[in-house]
Amino acid sequence: MASEAPSLLRRTIGCGLVGEFDAAGRREVVITGWVHRRRDLGNLIFLEVRDGSGRVQVVLDPSSAPDAHESAQHVHAEDVIGVRGTVVPREAVNPSHPTGRVEIRAAEIAIHNRARAVPFPVDDESESNEEARLAHRYVDLRRPRLQRALRTRHALARAARRVLDDLGFLEIETPILTRSTPEGARDYLVPSRVHPGRFYALPQSPQLFKQLLMVAGFDRYYQFARCFRDEDLRADRQPEFTQIDLEMAFATPSEVYGVAEPLVAAMLREVGVEIETPLPRMSYAEAMDRFGTDRPDTRFGLEIRDAAPAVAGRGFAVFDAALAEGGVVRGIAVPGGGSASRKMLDAWSAWAREAGANGLVWIRTEEGGAVSSPALKALGEDGARAAAAAVGAERGDAALLVAGPVEVAARALGALRLRIAAEMGLAPKDRWDLLWVERFPLLQWDAAEERWVACHHPFTAPRWEDLDRLEGEPSSVLAQAYDLVLNGAEIGGGSIRIHRRDVQERVFRALGIGAEEAEAKFGFLLRALDAGAPPHGGIALGFDRICAMLVGADSIRDVIAFPKTTSASCLLTGSPAPVDGRQLADLGLRLEEAD
Ligand code: AMO
Repeated sequence: MASEAPSLLRRTIGCGLVGEFDAAGRREVVITGWVHRRRDLGNLIFLEVRDGSGRVQVVLDPSSAPDAHESAQHVHAEDVIGVRGTVVPREAVNPSHPTGRVEIRAAEIAIHNRARAVPFPVDDESESNEEARLAHRYVDLRRPRLQRALRTRHALARAARRVLDDLGFLEIETPILTRSTPEGARDYLVPSRVHPGRFYALPQSPQLFKQLLMVAGFDRYYQFARCFRDEDLRADRQPEFTQIDLEMAFATPSEVYGVAEPLVAAMLREVGVEIETPLPRMSYAEAMDRFGTDRPDTRFGLEIRDAAPAVAGRGFAVFDAALAEGGVVRGIAVPGGGSASRKMLDAWSAWAREAGANGLVWIRTEEGGAVSSPALKALGEDGARAAAAAVGAERGDAALLVAGPVEVAARALGALRLRIAAEMGLAPKDRWDLLWVERFPLLQWDAAEERWVACHHPFTAPRWEDLDRLEGEPSSVLAQAYDLVLNGAEIGGGSIRIHRRDVQERVFRALGIGAEEAEAKFGFLLRALDAGAPPHGGIALGFDRICAMLVGADSIRDVIAFPKTTSASCLLTGSPAPVDGRQLADLGLRLEEAD
């Protein structure tokens, strides 16, 4: 019997679970879901029906169920149907499919709804236009890949909550309408109607509230916290994103690691990966020296080495000038690069320049032993061989050298290392290299703004033993801050905080925040620090980034149900959107005419 009216067919099993019943022989089931595909073979009609648990094949035979066969002639992809039928072994077994050994012989079909506007097919193969997909995200999300991604996200959140609950952390919510917390990005502002001319800021993180919770005596806090940052977007950034944010009173960095490590291990276990803890630790200085970045990808070599002793004083002006100016000559060895083509060498040089280097000096050592380099004359053959050896290039390899200020060489070689590794496929896909990067500087000089800015945020504690140098030698003060790095991506960051008012005031001063500004913006924090604030510290893990990496997605958009584009728009709802004049007037706002 077929019906367009609401049917009494109640689901007895998920589509993707039907296969589990084949051994028990024939049995009646009711499935509900979306028509994934319809094939009409004239006498028989095959429907593939899909729900959240997977897909199963339904066969309609006019001789045994004429009405159902008749209605199946009129269903289309994405129509919502219910099917009552009997599970039978399939003649043409599809062993690669979870339900590929069985099919359902339909006795009855109910059509719950017709899908009249489906802008693109629901499958992982046809990659249609990204904009259309985001505008119809509810259809896009039906694709198996995105279904899996969000289901894994849920499993990871559950695993993380379990660990934190077991360790005695309390989940506490903090305000969304609040004051600006400086985390280095612009704020999203919300105008107040009740207080015209005043604005809430959406939190860039719950940083100050979690510190206040420590003062309040909740000594282990966590939250799946939504954060808002108006910054340039990339594949690993969204304007609103989720942190697993936590804070602990009386904690040392090792104690914070002791929570973050089982947390990350539990999430990795959800995708079948076991890691060893405690995780390795590396200082910021070592990371910059060896990898040219504070988030080193340690899955492959290509480490940066010093070539200065091998090249100094050989009469190659570029190198000698860099060293005379207090700079460095450093390089990496590319295995097999001895036979790199000119085109490839040119590309590598271009990449180094894109990453800020003035140029790249390459030295090829061929398998036969011959050496070639544009700097061969200037360095001499011995010099070229010595430079290649200094960065670890052996026969058959290439040495790539950059001369200049230490930060410039680090950035260029760090970037080159990653691009070459990506091009040569050097990073094993099944490796999960986690490490802590620690001993960051507290402050860095912002040349554009001509002032010191916090490397992490202004509430991060300096190493207590460095505190005396804060005023005289600010660049030498190290922070009690740490980042957690997974395969070259920063998946978390945190610190021990300043818990004393006098120290916080000194750090504000070092950052050029005067007493009046400090009182106006952070008076509530300063007063709280004076009200018996315990020593405390914590960390926030970038939950979207972790999810994206663990499901193997290129972009965090794939693990966010309703993401925004790189220009921070939501194509589904059309936000941000204009508002009408009355709403603006209520808020005491007037728009200036755009030019
Ligand atoms: P931080 O700014 O380092 O620290 O943020 C913590 C982690 O959040 C992730 N993240 C992002 N993910 C997606 N989109 C973004 N726009 C984005 N920005 C950051 C990163 C990052 O490591 N309050 C401090 C934490 C603390 O000190 O406890 C904070 O927010 O993975």
